[in-house]
This record gives sequence, C-alpha cells and structure tokens, in this order.
Amino acid sequence: MPANPDRPAARLVVLVSGSGTNLQALLDAATDPAYGAEVVAVGADRDNIEGLERAQRAGVETFVRRVKDFDDRAAWDADLAAAVAAHRPDVVVLAGFMKLVGESFLSAFGGRVLNTHPALSPSFPGMRGPADALEYGVKVTGCTLFVVDAGVDTGPIVAQSAVDVEPDDDVESLHERIKSAERTMLVEAVGRMAREGFVVEGRQVRFGTVRHQGRQPLG
Ligand code: GRF
Repeated sequence: MPANPDRPAARLVVLVSGSGTNLQALLDAATDPAYGAEVVAVGADRDNIEGLERAQRAGVETFVRRVKDFDDRAAWDADLAAAVAAHRPDVVVLAGFMKLVGESFLSAFGGRVLNTHPALSPSFPGMRGPADALEYGVKVTGCTLFVVDAGVDTGPIVAQSAVDVEPDDDVESLHERIKSAERTMLVEAVGRMAREGFVVEGRQVRFGTVRHQGRQPLG
C-alpha cells in the first residue's frame, strides 16, 4: 500500500533487551517509505546487546536506562519515559523488552505502547510463554501483539498468529518458530496502524480512522 502523502511517517521508538530480531524486522520494513513508519530511536534496559548493535548499524539513535542505576523502580520508569518522550514517538514498541513499564510510562504513552508476547493470549502470560505452552501440551500456540496496560500481557489485542507445536519441539525450536511468526505479525500490524491509524475501545482494537471515543491520533 502506498504511504499516505498527507500523513508523515509514524515515529516509532522501540525498546529491546536482547537479540532484537523483531526490531530488525521493523528496521528492514521501514527502509521502504511506503511502509509509513520509521524507527526514530531504540532504547534498552541493558548494555552490550545485539538489539542495540542492530540499531547502531541502521544509523538509529540509541539510549540505555538500567534499573540498577536508579534509586528505585519508579525513578527508573520515569526516566525511561522521559528518554522515550525526547524522541516524540507516535507509537512505542516493546520488542523483547524484558521489563514491565510502570505508571509514569503508561501515563505518558498509555494507549500507544505495543508489546509482543510469544503465546496466544490469554494463555501463558509472563516470561515463559513457549516453555509453559510446551509443558501444558498444547498443539497450537503462537504470538500476540497487544496494547500495553497495567497488567502482565493482558492489554487489548491488536493481532495474533497461530503456530503449530511439533512433536519433537523443545523450548528453543518452538520459540524460534514463534519468533518467525511474531516478526511477520509485528511488521504487518504496526504498518497498518501507522498508515491507517487505530482505535482502542475497551478490549477492541480496530485499524482505521473512523472516529470513535479513544481514537489514537497518529502522524
Ligand atoms: C520475542 O519472542 C518476544 O516476544 C519475547 O522475547 C523475544 C524477543 O526476540 N518477549 P528478539 O529480541 O526480538 O529477537
């Protein structure tokens, strides 16, 4: 779909904690102006991770805020929110960011913070999505993109993608297959949100610019 000439590219700030393959998928998609979004900065809660190197290779500004450098979690959260705000994001994407954001962060960006989770919500929330799915013995799991709220992986769902569990899967093989689906889901959904706008009404997230209460203006 061509970019809307009346709408500038949506500004994305992406937060990472690890390998950053989801970030890379967004960076790659955003090289096409028709995608409708650009990654303007990448933040992390730790140094020396591949995710930050991916950003640097792409010429994207980076910043790091480590919890242990602050008096408490609330001070970290407020400073992280300020660091993100400095880049004037339209949407913040938590892409493998292994920290819960708090009150300051959500009051600054609530309704436009997205997170990807490697399970089909509401099943298997938390840090062990692929392991919990394997242990439970489900035959289908997958990934979920959602609008972050104050809970753990509980926010309104933007997109989901199903992944079969194979009989010989271990946690690593299953998670790798989920991550492949996750990258496709993330790129497609974030692009649509950027190009079309989106609406959050209660638990419903809809693409498009039809005026509803709670519509998130973009671009
Ligand atoms: C993804 O599966 C994400 O959902 C989970 O951690 C993984 C991050 O992968 N929280 P990457 O850093 O994007 O490669």
